[in-house]
Amino acid sequence: MALSQGGKTRDGWSSRSAFILAAIGSAVGLGNLWRFPAEAGANGGGAFVLFYILCVLMIGLPILLSETLIGRHGQASAPESVRRVAKASRVSSHWDILASMGVLAAFMILSFYCVVGGWVLYYIGQFMADIFASGVTGGAFEGRPAEEIEALLPNLFGNGILMVGLNALFLGFTLFFVARGVSGGIELVAKWMMPAFFILLIAITVYGAFGGAFSQTVSYLFTFEPEKLTGPVMLAAVGQAFFSLSLGVAGMITYGGYVGRNVNLGSTSAIISSADTAVALLAGLCIFPIVFAAGLSVAAGPGLMFQTLPHAFQEMPAGSVVGLLFFIMVGFAALTSSVALLEVPTAWLIDKFRFVRPVSASIVAGGAMILGALAALSFNELADWHPLDFIPLFAGQGFFDVLDGITAKLLMPIGALLTALFIGWFADRKLVDLENGLGGWLHLFWLFLVRFVCPIALIGILVVGIFPGMF
Ligand code: PHE
Repeated sequence: MALSQGGKTRDGWSSRSAFILAAIGSAVGLGNLWRFPAEAGANGGGAFVLFYILCVLMIGLPILLSETLIGRHGQASAPESVRRVAKASRVSSHWDILASMGVLAAFMILSFYCVVGGWVLYYIGQFMADIFASGVTGGAFEGRPAEEIEALLPNLFGNGILMVGLNALFLGFTLFFVARGVSGGIELVAKWMMPAFFILLIAITVYGAFGGAFSQTVSYLFTFEPEKLTGPVMLAAVGQAFFSLSLGVAGMITYGGYVGRNVNLGSTSAIISSADTAVALLAGLCIFPIVFAAGLSVAAGPGLMFQTLPHAFQEMPAGSVVGLLFFIMVGFAALTSSVALLEVPTAWLIDKFRFVRPVSASIVAGGAMILGALAALSFNELADWHPLDFIPLFAGQGFFDVLDGITAKLLMPIGALLTALFIGWFADRKLVDLENGLGGWLHLFWLFLVRFVCPIALIGILVVGIFPGMF
């Protein structure tokens, strides 16, 4: 749909539901399927999960609404939208730094996110090859020892050229949709892939529920043991909530910029965050029964989805088909998120230099390809290259971890903190009231969260993130 702004028309979502699907598509990704179960497993289950839900409600949702509100008011790329809100509120236009940092963060996350997207493509290939070799009925990788299945990931890590190639392929898919535009490309991918994703997720969860270990999973994920709620667990939960809701990288400001005036942002933000949380929980309910039933460890961290799970598919009837479907589902979710990540800097280039969309998107993707190649090679050829060795926080880390660390520990929390301060304390009250779609006490409660709770929590994340040894 074309949105009109000052006499000019701008491409935008064709309907409210298109926006909701695209925003859910941005939020739901590797963060929900790969990181959430890994974090929940590594941080002791129930305490992490319940605190996570609290973080989504008290910090994630208020910031999500603040971001979409800025975008919808501005109807432009993220930095320009912030400037427009600042202008209408008669405060300094330098607040746009919050969105400029977001553009940079989105670009950096895009670079390493597509590397992981490449791993997903690799697993899709492995399951397909297995089906061709041994048919659809048996378990995955039948007859191959467990060590060999767990070695799939390190084997891939050992092959720099393959990793760079898969990264480029995933980035190429992302570019294809972003270059086609908001309603014709980004919306299209969300409209087809998100429903397919939900069907696959529910099907695999139901399948897992019959595998026997479902009640064990439910008690693991939802039993609250207060003594397990330590500082690091809380920190992991807040960070995860941010990453999962795509906050602090100007993504929701950018997507909000394509929303029409008639959409109620309060209720829409609530739908987006509920859906994202529901998917994270479903991912837990989907993955843990499979892992428990196979008697494997829940605390495998990042290896849980890529190493532990495939090895569990071995025990299942038709495990190679279930495994293939599972990784296709992960690929869909990752693609709708990488599309959002590419859109943030693309929209900025279009606004700033008036390039046409395909050119802007290609420039960003080209840059991300280079950074991504360096990130992919940090697992092999460039393993000894520690670019920020002189900064204690990043000492000894390869390029992939540096990109992850700078964005997760610095750029995202700072971006979100500035957003909360800007909307809570500096933006014009009337403008905010008009845009947020909340009435009465809900409005006051939201304001209280944005003014006090979010900044305090975010400063806490920053301090603990920067000085880990102190706590
Ligand atoms: N929220 C996405 C996920 O869970 C990642 C993401 C972060 C996407 C920031 C866009 C912006 O995987």
